[in-house]
Amino acid sequence: MYIMNKPIRIALTKGRLEKDTVGLLEKIGFDCTTVREKGRKLILPISDANLEVVLAKANDVITYVEHGVCDMGVVGKDTIMEMGGSFFELVDLGFGRCRFALAAKKGSGFYGGYDIKTIATKYPNVARAYFESKGMDLEIVKIEGSVELAPLLELSDGIVDIVETGTTLKENGLEIIEDIAPISARLIVNTVSMKLRQAEIEKLVSLVEANL
Ligand code: PRP
Repeated sequence: MYIMNKPIRIALTKGRLEKDTVGLLEKIGFDCTTVREKGRKLILPISDANLEVVLAKANDVITYVEHGVCDMGVVGKDTIMEMGGSFFELVDLGFGRCRFALAAKKGSGFYGGYDIKTIATKYPNVARAYFESKGMDLEIVKIEGSVELAPLLELSDGIVDIVETGTTLKENGLEIIEDIAPISARLIVNTVSMKLRQAEIEKLVSLVEANL
């Protein structure tokens, strides 16, 4: 009797990256109706590809892949830079493009003066590493969203945040002081899965690369 391998489980970051990834899987030729018509379901089989899609928040995609309960994941480079972790980062998927930037109120002269700067951010590790690389001491305040508010309310001198179109900065009177790093979606793989299911994973990865 032929026994089919259990599906390769792939964790997708819910939202925009999920949509772009489903688009990519469909371009490869997989039937993603289950994901498109998911309702509130969080685990979705893509039977013709022997894949199982898991929908999760970005940080949790990394957690599930690191723990090996998902073989692969699609997550932004922003989350990878902030969380780190041990897994293989195999493919730059090219979508979900944006960047990390340091921004401050327009004309505020961010680097002027000798006082220790305060930075508000959702990404304290990224911000710390960036200013450490400049040898600059600073204070970090962790904010959960709409980080642009912090300098407007004078909680911070600047922010380290994601910039996509630049509209949020512009509409709130902020400007980019420096670009920090480019961001895009990445395909990550659990280190053990990479060994145990190498052939299947490599096949999927080459299909992905051929359809980017
Ligand atoms: C992100 C980011 C900026 C905005 C940038 O926020 O934190 O606020 O998008 O996009 P733009 O350059 O195209 O204006 P998100 O929409 O994820 O919400 P949040 O601020 O609540 O995290």
